[in-house]
Amino acid sequence: MSETIAKMLVETLSKIIEVKGIATFIPSAGKTPLRTYEILFEKYKHRLDWSKVVIIQMDEYLNIAYENNSFSKFIFEKLIAPLQISQFHLIADAYNSTSEQFAQYKEIIARYGEIDLILHGIGTNGHIGFNEPPVKLTHNGIVDLAQDTIIANQDQFGGMNKTPTCGVSLSLAELIKIRKSIIAASGKSKHAALKTILQLKVNQMCPASLLVENPNTEIVCDTNALWG
Ligand code: GLP
Repeated sequence: MSETIAKMLVETLSKIIEVKGIATFIPSAGKTPLRTYEILFEKYKHRLDWSKVVIIQMDEYLNIAYENNSFSKFIFEKLIAPLQISQFHLIADAYNSTSEQFAQYKEIIARYGEIDLILHGIGTNGHIGFNEPPVKLTHNGIVDLAQDTIIANQDQFGGMNKTPTCGVSLSLAELIKIRKSIIAASGKSKHAALKTILQLKVNQMCPASLLVENPNTEIVCDTNALWG
C-alpha cells in the first residue's frame, strides 16, 4: 500500500509541476502514511524536483506547542526535512489558537489558488482532517474532537487527560474542492469507516464519504481495512 501511494504521489506531483511549474500538496499528519513518507525519501528524493512542491498543513491540535507532538512537527520531521522541501506552511504555534489566527493562515494559503493534491488518512469514525461526524460543511476553523478521536490519539499524549479535545482544521467544503484526493486506509480499526465510504454515497455520519462524490478521489487500502 505504501509503495503504491508513494508512486501515485510522485506521478501526480510531476504531472502538475510539468503543467503549472509548482504543485501544492497537503500531506496527512496521521500514522497511516508514515511508511509512504519513508519511501518518498528512500526512493524518490532525487526523482522529483521537491523545490517545486509547496507543503500545506490541513489540521492541528488547538493550542498545541510545536514541540508537544504537534502535527506540524510530524510533517516537518517525516516529510519536509528528509526531502529538503523549502516551501511549506505549518500551523502550530502561530495559527492554532483562535479562529482569527486560523483565518490568517487560510489567507496565506489562498494565495496559491487551488490546492492540487491531498493525501488523507481517515479517523476510525470516518473523519477527515478534524471534521468529525455528523457532517458539517463549514465552520470557523475551531472544532471539537469526537470521543473516538480522543481515544485513538491518547497513546501519543500519555493518557486521555493529557490528550487535546479540540483542533483547528480546513473544513469539508474546503477539502472537497481540492483537485485530487487520495484516501489511505490501513488496519482493522478503519474497516467500518472504509465500508461506509465504499458504499459510494454520502453518509452524514462519515465525513470521508463526501469525497467520493469527486471523480478525482482515489482510495488505497490494505486487506485488513478492506475485510476487517
Ligand atoms: C487524525 C488526523 C487526520 C488523520 C486521521 C488518521 O486525527 N486529524 O488528519 O488523517 O486522524 O490518522 P491515522 O493515520 O494516525 O490513523
